[in-house]
Amino acid sequence: TSPFAPRHLLSIADLTPKELTTLVRNAGSHKSALKSGSSLPPNLHNSLLGRTIAMLFSKRSTRTRVSTEGAVAMLSGHPMFLGSQDIQLGVNESLYDTSVVISSMVSAIVARVNKHEEVAEMAKSSSVPVINALSDLWHPLQTIADYLTLHEAFPSDKSSGGSLGLEGLRIAWVGDANNVLFDLALGAAKLGCHLSVATPSGYSIPDNIRSVITTAAANPSTPIDFLTETNIPEEAVKDADVIVTDTWVSMGQESEQKKRLKDFSGFQVTHELAKRGGAKEGWKFMHCLPRHREEVSDEVFYSPASLVFAEAENRLWSAVSVLEGFVVNKGRIV
Ligand code: CP
Ligand code: NVA
Repeated sequence: TSPFAPRHLLSIADLTPKELTTLVRNAGSHKSALKSGSSLPPNLHNSLLGRTIAMLFSKRSTRTRVSTEGAVAMLSGHPMFLGSQDIQLGVNESLYDTSVVISSMVSAIVARVNKHEEVAEMAKSSSVPVINALSDLWHPLQTIADYLTLHEAFPSDKSSGGSLGLEGLRIAWVGDANNVLFDLALGAAKLGCHLSVATPSGYSIPDNIRSVITTAAANPSTPIDFLTETNIPEEAVKDADVIVTDTWVSMGQESEQKKRLKDFSGFQVTHELAKRGGAKEGWKFMHCLPRHREEVSDEVFYSPASLVFAEAENRLWSAVSVLEGFVVNKGRIV
């Protein structure tokens, strides 16, 4: 790569533990500043004035679209939303040509794709940073918002400039092993959290992804056994500080819906499950949304234990922080 090659964010694997910590911290500090009636730091304010951020989305989105457009506007830039019905990509034009052309006119590309290779190929042919806004494998913008949410919900005196103070936090994932889990797991590896995953058999983390996750556990505070996997939801939630899930049928898997709903029965997150499994007193619940009733009961989803709406709002601050790090500061994350 040339010294001028842009730095991309395709998954949490692209970040050092320190950089992930910084992106979460910066997200939190911009949030506090704006919420307390103060403004963004002078170097950020107007930092995208006169610049366009292209948003190539080949799947639906509420949070990612609204948070990205809002974040670009906050930095005085222009978010240009390009849905799959709007542009030539995939019908009349190749990914390579699209990526070269669009990147010649904008300051960054935020892309939501089907196969991860699509966003990876886009990054190779783009002259500007490419930010993955969800592929079938990873969802880094969600992960940054999720660790901000955890940092807020579990304040710690171990928290310092270099640490979010989340070392040893016990995260349980009950449900499908998917894109949201994979980047959450990379985050756990990098931040020293414990992650216990329960999936039905046949739906566990693929071997190639597991090896990406376990080799990421370079943080000295990450125990070697930070990741445990089971097919029994009760086992995963034991001693959990937080229980996390996501849809059982991700976008693109609609044809498997019937089979999946059957195979995942018994995996709904409920108060009874948390109690039977022995989750910690005061356990919290997270979900990236959109949510369906099958994976979590209303009772949990709308309970005081639920962090879901704070988590969704944090997507905005995650987007501001990523634009700051990758676009305004050109990949220097400080
Ligand atoms: N969590 C998330 O990415 O939601 P959207 O699909 O609505 O963007
Ligand atoms: N796993 C879900 C996340 C949506 C934000 C999907 O890929 O559809």
